Amino acid sequence: MEISISTIPDNEFKKKYETESTLEFGKVFTDRMFLINYSNGQWENPRITKYGLLSLEPSAIALQYGQTIFEGQKAYRTKDGKLNLFRPNLNIERFNNSAKRMAMPEIPPEIYSDSLKVLLDLERDWAPKKVGSALYIRPTMIGTQGRLGVIPSDEYLFYIILSPVGPYFPEGFKPIKIWVSENYIRAAPGGTGYAKTGGNYAASLLIGKEALEKGYSQVLWLDAIHKKYVEEVGAMNIFFVYNDTLYTAPLDSGTILPGLTRKSVIQMAKDFGYSIKEQALSMDEIVEGTKNGSLQECFGAGTAASIAPVGCLRYQGKEHIINEFQIGEITQKIYDKLIGIQYGNIDDPYGWIVPV
Ligand code: COI
Repeated sequence: MEISISTIPDNEFKKKYETESTLEFGKVFTDRMFLINYSNGQWENPRITKYGLLSLEPSAIALQYGQTIFEGQKAYRTKDGKLNLFRPNLNIERFNNSAKRMAMPEIPPEIYSDSLKVLLDLERDWAPKKVGSALYIRPTMIGTQGRLGVIPSDEYLFYIILSPVGPYFPEGFKPIKIWVSENYIRAAPGGTGYAKTGGNYAASLLIGKEALEKGYSQVLWLDAIHKKYVEEVGAMNIFFVYNDTLYTAPLDSGTILPGLTRKSVIQMAKDFGYSIKEQALSMDEIVEGTKNGSLQECFGAGTAASIAPVGCLRYQGKEHIINEFQIGEITQKIYDKLIGIQYGNIDDPYGWIVPV
């Protein structure tokens, strides 16, 4: 694939962020982006241009009916200046699974991965140096055809933008408080829960805002049928530790996002010698576990959020505190290993890292 690369005049390069310690999540974008169009059944016009506005029909299917998908991945800067991608093939696979669910064309894996490497190479100086910060990668596909009939678009735009980011939660690697949603649901069996599509996130905004106003970082979703079993947190999958066994919701209902951090945590935990149960836990069992102390730890796992210890779940009007609001030993071990591999500070025994 021949990518056309526009020249950016020197005086139009953005001033890079001043200090990494004040980097927030997803507010700054690098100088360039990659774009490619799909029409008449073909991907065409691959190009890297200056980051800037898109021109779209107001009737574009993406804007009217939400035919959009995206991925979240990071490039981690190593001490010797390389950028490490973490299991990038899994992002491509998940992106194309989301595309199938949303009746969109799949992107050929080589277009996704070659364009990402070329873009990263041009923008590598934007990657922050501090552990916990990274260059966040947001591949996106939208239906661009302008038409009001509710049928899939005939035309699409795939693009990749990059954003230097600090930790997703401003508090960094510290226990967070989570609001359990008792009325709203995120996904039902047969729906789009397993796909990374904008609508899943749009549906979370109202209660997410209410939770934030009350001092809770995220919302924990329960299953749509019984409103009882724990599913995921929206920006993360969630794990509970009882008796040195890690529990997380199974993927078979199709309502949970198949996180690649989730998959990696499961692998690392097994190798540490812990048991894993991909099994639905009810809020009643969790509340009981906080009362009798059998629930040792709880943490979220996601690309943006990394590993996030959970210190409190607010459910049925009460705050249920986990592990005295301290970071658990297993959470810490998993975090250290994951971060160590991603930033190239420890050996990668799994072959998960792809350096760029
Ligand atoms: C990610 O973890 O990369 C996500 O996509 C979650 C969120 C920021 C939408």
